[in-house]
Amino acid sequence: AWMDGKSMLLHAYKHRYGVGAFSAQNAEMVKGIIEAAEEEQAPVMIQIGQKAITHLGLEPLKEMVVQYAQGATVPIAIHLDHSRSYTQTMRAIQLGFQSVMFDGSSRSFEENVRITRLVAEAGHALGIGVEGEIGKIGGVEDDIDVSESEATITTTEEALAFSEQTGIDYIAVSIGTAHGLYTKEPNLRIARLKEIVASIDKPVVLHGGSGVPDAQVKEAIASGVAKINVDTELRQAVSQAMQARWTKEPNNLVLADVLQDGIEAMKHVVKHKIRTFGSDRKS
Ligand code: G3H
Ligand code: ZN
Repeated sequence: AWMDGKSMLLHAYKHRYGVGAFSAQNAEMVKGIIEAAEEEQAPVMIQIGQKAITHLGLEPLKEMVVQYAQGATVPIAIHLDHSRSYTQTMRAIQLGFQSVMFDGSSRSFEENVRITRLVAEAGHALGIGVEGEIGKIGGVEDDIDVSESEATITTTEEALAFSEQTGIDYIAVSIGTAHGLYTKEPNLRIARLKEIVASIDKPVVLHGGSGVPDAQVKEAIASGVAKINVDTELRQAVSQAMQARWTKEPNNLVLADVLQDGIEAMKHVVKHKIRTFGSDRKS
């Protein structure tokens, strides 16, 4: 059943569990994420990212999720991830996404506020959850590359100003995670997170959820993180299982079967994340 992102995350925030926002790049991933959520009876967000949009297009991806979500009993929200374009964000709203992110973190504070606010106003008018980002999260995601030296930890002051001036429903902050694989274990700034949550009192979004130790994610959720973005670990699970199958059977050209191995592996990861986030049996 569809649920708008704001209602979904406010419930999670209030009850201190986290909703998994899982990125899907193809039909099999969409289907697998929904199956995993159904098996765990967990509310879930399916994220559509920029890479997938470049390859497949926003409309077909949206339709794909609609098709596979039909008949699902758990709350589902389709979320637009890291849009750097006002036009694309508005298009997603028009298409019926339940949640959108405008990512103006590469722009000046004023520009980020200006555009994010327009998106938030449209989202509010239509009952769609809006996410904005303040501070720079490190790592590589799709075509966005933020080096370690460029990454900055979000200050409480800028988070509060950004939250108030934009009116967003949930806020992505930079508190020590990075997109992609980690070379060394991340160290989340929990004290900063607590300070931010105490001052803005809104659900916080944790980007770069792949490879963060479970204990740290749980601490972040207990401190006010209500949406955890997971992308790389899913693609890794899919790819590794497909590679393993092809190592054993190099001439297996039944692509659907090989993909299915990948999806089974991905579902294990999704289900483990759901339980770690505490969103199992919360539907
Ligand atoms: O917006 C998507 C995420 O922040 C994913 O990060 O690829 O490190 O899991 P990840
Ligand atoms: Zn992200």
